[in-house]
Amino acid sequence: MKSLVTMAGLFCALTHRLSMHFETELVHSGRSIDPATGALVAPIHLSTTFERGVDGSSPHGYVYGRSDNPNRQALETALATLEAGCEAAVFGSGSAATLTLLQALKAGDHVVAPQNVYFGVQEILAKILAPWGLQYTLVDTTDLAAVAAAIQANTRLVLIETPSNPQLAVTDIQAVANLAHQAQAYLACDNTIPSPVLQRPFDHGADFVIHATTKYLAGHSDVIGGAVMTKESNPLFDQLRLIQGLGGAIPSPFDCWLTLRGLSTLALRVQAQSQAALAIAQWLQQHPAIERVLYPGLPGHPGYDTAQRQMQGGYGGVLSILVHGGQEAALAMSTKTQIFTRATSFGGPHSTLEHRASIEAPGSQTPVNLLRLSIGLEHPQDLMADLDQALRTPD
Ligand SMILES: Cc1ncc(COP(=O)(O)O)c(C=O)c1O
Repeated sequence: MKSLVTMAGLFCALTHRLSMHFETELVHSGRSIDPATGALVAPIHLSTTFERGVDGSSPHGYVYGRSDNPNRQALETALATLEAGCEAAVFGSGSAATLTLLQALKAGDHVVAPQNVYFGVQEILAKILAPWGLQYTLVDTTDLAAVAAAIQANTRLVLIETPSNPQLAVTDIQAVANLAHQAQAYLACDNTIPSPVLQRPFDHGADFVIHATTKYLAGHSDVIGGAVMTKESNPLFDQLRLIQGLGGAIPSPFDCWLTLRGLSTLALRVQAQSQAALAIAQWLQQHPAIERVLYPGLPGHPGYDTAQRQMQGGYGGVLSILVHGGQEAALAMSTKTQIFTRATSFGGPHSTLEHRASIEAPGSQTPVNLLRLSIGLEHPQDLMADLDQALRTPD
C-alpha cells in the first residue's frame, strides 16, 4: 500500500480521474483483502514499530507509527481518491489539518481567510500563527472585489470555507481560485459541510481541500479527525507532510479505521441528510417564529446561484435559523426540543442544534439569535414536529 501512494505522489498529474463511480470508490478505495487472513475488513494495526531489514531498510514499507501506519495509509488513499486529488494527509482533528497547512507557510507570508470562517480557525490565526509571524487578512470571501483588494504581494494562500459554518455563506470557488492564481497564491477550500458527495473543489480550481473528518466523513459523532488533500505535488504539501511526520498530530489507527468505515455509507447519509435539510429549511422559512433561514438551497439565499453551479445533488445537512425575539428566544427554544440535542458539531446521525454565539469567543460575527441545526438521520417529519412544538411552546 505504501508503494502505491508513493507512486501516486510521483505521478500526481496523471491520477486525478476517478476510475469508478464515486459510490463504488467509497466502499472500495483504500481497502484490500487482508493477505494474512482473507478478512474483508482490515485489522487495526496498533503496532508503533515495524521490523527493519538486515541492511537497515524497511522491507514492509513502514518504520514507525508517527511517520506511517497501514490504517492511516488506507484512509489517506481513500480520501485522495474521493476528492480526486493526488495525495491526502490525515490529522488528529480538522483543526490540526488547517493548522498544519498554515504552519507549512513561512513567517512573513500572508494569508487571506473568510471573516466568518469556522471560529477555531480565526483563533488559530490570531493566537498561534500571528505571534509566529504569519500575516493574515479576514475578508468577506463572497465579495470578489474584497478578496482581490486583500491579496498582497506576499499572499501565498487564500483559504475559503463554503458553505461556511455557521452562516452558510457561499463563496465562488472558481472565481477566488482565479484571483489567487493570478497572484501566484494557492487556494485551499474547507469542504467539510458539503463533503465530496455534494462539492468537488478541485473541479473548480482549488489546490487544497481541507476536511474535518469528524463531521460527515466519519459520520457517527465518535471520532475526531482531519485531512488535507492536494490536487498536485507541490512544495507546500511536501512541507505539510514533513510537519505531519515530525510533529505527529496524527490520528490513531483506530480513528483511521473508524473514519474509513464511515466512508462506506457517506453518499447515502449525506444525500438523506441534505434532502431532509432542504425540506426542513423550506418549511421553517414559512414558520411565524422564524425571522430568517440561512440555507444555500433556498432561492432567496444570496449564494443560491453560485451553490447551484458548484454543488451537485444537494446543499448539505446544516442550516441556521434566526429566531424572532433575539438571543433569549433562541436560547429558550433550544431547551424545548425533544429529538434535537443541544450539542456542538454536526454531521452525525443524531440531529443537534446549537446557539453558536455563546460558544464562539468574543468578537464572533454570529447573530445572537442564530441557532445552527445539524440534520441527522431521523425521519424529517419527526424533526419538523419537534422543531414546531419547541417554537410554539410558551416559556
Ligand atoms: C468547517 C469546519 N472546519 C474545521 C473544523 C475543525 O474540526 P475539528 O473540530 O475536528 O478540529 C470545524 C469544526 O467544527 C468546522 O466546522
